Amino acid sequence: MTQVPFGDMKAHYQQFKSDIDTAVSRVLASGHYILGPELDKFEKDFAKFVGVNYAVGCSCGTEAIYLALAAMGVGPGDEVITVAHTAVPTINAISMTGATPVFADIDPVTYVMDVNSAESKITEKTKAFVPVHLYGQMVNMEPLMKLSLKHRIPVMEDIAQATGSLFKGAMAGTIGEYGAFSFYPSKNLGAFGDGGMVVTNSKENYELLLKLRNMGQSQRYHHDIVGINSRLDEIQAAILGAQLPYVNQWNTRRREIAKRYNEGLKGLVTTPQEASYGAHVYHLYVIQTENRDEMQKYLSDKGIQCLIHYPIPGHLQKAYTFLGYKKGDLPVTEHAANHILSLPMYPELTNEQVDHVIAAIRDYCKEKNTASVATPMSAQVAGR
Ligand SMILES: Cc1ncc(COP(=O)(O)O)c(C=O)c1O
Repeated sequence: MTQVPFGDMKAHYQQFKSDIDTAVSRVLASGHYILGPELDKFEKDFAKFVGVNYAVGCSCGTEAIYLALAAMGVGPGDEVITVAHTAVPTINAISMTGATPVFADIDPVTYVMDVNSAESKITEKTKAFVPVHLYGQMVNMEPLMKLSLKHRIPVMEDIAQATGSLFKGAMAGTIGEYGAFSFYPSKNLGAFGDGGMVVTNSKENYELLLKLRNMGQSQRYHHDIVGINSRLDEIQAAILGAQLPYVNQWNTRRREIAKRYNEGLKGLVTTPQEASYGAHVYHLYVIQTENRDEMQKYLSDKGIQCLIHYPIPGHLQKAYTFLGYKKGDLPVTEHAANHILSLPMYPELTNEQVDHVIAAIRDYCKEKNTASVATPMSAQVAGR
């Protein structure tokens, strides 16, 4: 039986083994493992790739968001507007500052922040917007930046899932005051461990971030401010640097796979829509379907591993009950959580594997005697 795992890091390593082994050996032999030349070079190369002036490597995406918010001065008593339809670390990072996460609903078609909903959540305590470019697709940044300017509320882009995606030709990370990336292994650019990066165009922000990620130090043993230890180590920086030249090529392959899925699944399920304003880089390929759980089990029995991103939205997580949200507060988010299914999506996926997934979904629909299309909420939601 053809197996289609959700991800295949071993295949990824085998393909780039010599580049990665060379990078790791170089660092091991250098004797320099923290804050050295590899990080320096990778930060410069990554800033150039994104099209910003500065990049600051850190331990993971969660801390990248935290560091950017801390640099903005976000803290206890403040509110930060984001979405509940995200990986929970987005929300954790806001909580780590002591601020209160406030959830906007999402757009029913793109699954990212509905800017009208975000506007309705602004109060005098709002200190930042954290739009999440989920699944590889950017938030509609034009109306969001208008809101930001009008209310003087800065924007911190969560780009953990969207390295290389575009908004009207501008790369994710170049529009907000800060951008935060994750290099979790399965991301569009992934480390072989944890890693993250904050980008910014401002020298002042950059200098502050350098201190914040290194225990508040301006120089050794001189701690000007309270910071944390959040550094991207030399081995991960070297591995990431070796892979950076391939990111656009991998994103192109992700887009090819998405096109193949879109064509094969037409009429069977709700396929993802690419917004007219941007280029989707398909960190995840997410469909909507009725009987989602049943379809997931059917596919699993056929050797196809699918996951749900995310089954429980942030506002309904136990950890966040103290925020006081209840079921029904974010209808589009909750509808998505009940209907979405992520199909395997990574550059190493072969066309045969993609076709196997498509055939299995077609068989499922035939057996159930149904085109399994979920009703997207677009028809039901006003204001789109
Ligand atoms: C949208 C989003 N934000 C933040 C994070 C946190 O990144 P990390 O796992 O590197 O801390 C992730 C990854 O899990 C993510 O997908």
